[in-house]
Amino acid sequence: MDLPDPLKTLDGKKVTSAEIWRAKRRPEILELFRKHVYGRAPVGRPENMKFKVEEVAKDALGGVATRKLVRISFEGPGGKGSMRVSVYVSNKAKGKPAPGFLLISHRAFGKVDPDRKGANPFWPAKAIVARGYAAAVCFAQDVDPDKYDKFKNGVHGIFDKPDTPRAPDAWATIAAWAWGASRAMDYFETDTDIDAKRIAVLGHSRGGKTSLWCGAEDQRFAMVISNNSGCSGAALARRKSGETVARINKGFPHWFCDNYSKFDGKEEDMPVDQHMLVALAAPRPVYVASASKDSWADPLGEFLACVHAEGVYKLFGLNGLGASEMPKPESPLQSGHIGYHLRTGRHGLTEYDWKCYMDFADKHFRKK
Ligand code: GCU
Repeated sequence: MDLPDPLKTLDGKKVTSAEIWRAKRRPEILELFRKHVYGRAPVGRPENMKFKVEEVAKDALGGVATRKLVRISFEGPGGKGSMRVSVYVSNKAKGKPAPGFLLISHRAFGKVDPDRKGANPFWPAKAIVARGYAAAVCFAQDVDPDKYDKFKNGVHGIFDKPDTPRAPDAWATIAAWAWGASRAMDYFETDTDIDAKRIAVLGHSRGGKTSLWCGAEDQRFAMVISNNSGCSGAALARRKSGETVARINKGFPHWFCDNYSKFDGKEEDMPVDQHMLVALAAPRPVYVASASKDSWADPLGEFLACVHAEGVYKLFGLNGLGASEMPKPESPLQSGHIGYHLRTGRHGLTEYDWKCYMDFADKHFRKK
């Protein structure tokens, strides 16, 4: 498999230092992903954005945490919208800002609400808070519905120029969700219970594709985690194993920009591959996880993307993954700045996955 080299610029020069990576190669790769895969967001932080804490429950999670329900509202030429973020902080924190996790949830609000709906391994807020982290979740579908609606609803309808044809690299739904997670970060920067400089952005599956893209674009996130993200997430497209570019564009035409379908069946023509998306997290710690029975997401392809991202971490003098062979299940690789594990079982975000992410965060966020 012939992969594009993250360490060679478009004009063919070798990237020999962290400075050249930052100044030249990183922006080049970001631009390639914008143009050919996820599309370009027309707006960053909207000027008129507002945060409103709509609810504060001091006895959340059986009394151990305070939960804030925050509404982030914004307005554009096509109307108004808002996104909810639910944040739990430990009642033991006593005003000390906590590092935390932001889960980009593509599940409905009611399904990720431990106080009202009970505990759920997808969102183990209580376990996260018990480990000393703030546990925040934002709701992707508040930002943009997960269906092909010709980009009429959600933030596309709000921020795209009305009555103007969409460009082939206009943002699609994954870019819109990533944009939403960045707005949650805008909020964290204003919340004194949260240490916004130590937040890991995390997502599962379509949310894991989103967390990688979000972390690539928004370097305020100090750690990037993708759980079972598969095709157009962490898995190398050129392997064409499991879901392919053609399959994903057919099944989910709203996730990517129009240009992406040029690569249906032609993965080898792509100017990027997904190891470069993983590498865009550098020098921040990044973590990719697979499940043994999740062949649709191509576990080996997810692992190999980490292997091939390693060179970029080395430029920074950091250890990357430190392995070239796929580890056995339940044997996480966490010694460097790229973490990886394979979990036994099916596609899903489980307690075991979360435990590994918190172990990795302990190593990087709690360094003396
Ligand atoms: C489908 C899709 C995947 C996606 C997954 C999910 O299986 O083909 O690309 O990751 O849904 O989000 O659960």
